[in-house]
Amino acid sequence: MNEKKEVGEKAVEYVKDGMVVGLGTGSTVFYTIMKLGQLVQQGLTIKGVPTSEQTEQLAIELGIPLGSFEEVEQIDVAIDGADEVDPELNLIKGGGGALLREKIIAAAAKTFIVVADSDKNVDTLGTFPLPIEVVPFGYEMTVKHIKELGGSLKLRQKDGKTYLTDNGNYIIDSSFQEIMHPRELEKNLNLIPGVVDNGLFVGMADRVITFKDKKLTTIVRSNV
Ligand code: A5P
Repeated sequence: MNEKKEVGEKAVEYVKDGMVVGLGTGSTVFYTIMKLGQLVQQGLTIKGVPTSEQTEQLAIELGIPLGSFEEVEQIDVAIDGADEVDPELNLIKGGGGALLREKIIAAAAKTFIVVADSDKNVDTLGTFPLPIEVVPFGYEMTVKHIKELGGSLKLRQKDGKTYLTDNGNYIIDSSFQEIMHPRELEKNLNLIPGVVDNGLFVGMADRVITFKDKKLTTIVRSNV
């Protein structure tokens, strides 16, 4: 069974005619976007707001009409993947490097739905390296400040070069091991000059579609 496909496709149930839809990035939400492409071909009218250039390209190929924040005031539903999900539905995201646009779009959404295969469910966040987006200027100094919060750090590389986000920034992959206080860490990291944002998404996900005990399950955040 392909859990990514099942959870990804399930999420389209939350998309209704006329909605503005935040389109996430990654190999799980890929299936959501493929399914939305099919539904658009069959007459569904939506406007997508993509979280990355990669997703924008895919949506264009599938004929999904796109919009930007110049014309869109609010997003009805945003759907995206995650690298880790804890029992309170706090997340680590950004394995694919799109965390900043993903967070802007999730924060603009009335409903934020996460699609995650069972491997993503953890008791405590932190085994997956937490991505931190930093501006290139003075990043050596930014890294020193991040180090003071603990954890080992690595400047992300791709094809032998320093990886650049869609926003022209660097990603520092940081290993904090066990993140006991994600809300504090998310805030403290973002207070460091040079940090643009980090991959902790605390209290943002309204629903997580995943597999528990081999069953497709939707977990709803308790105060939703
Ligand atoms: C992209 O930057 C990430 O936040 C992805 O949403 C996350 O890495 C999940 O990706 P997969 O669905 O490919 O595991």
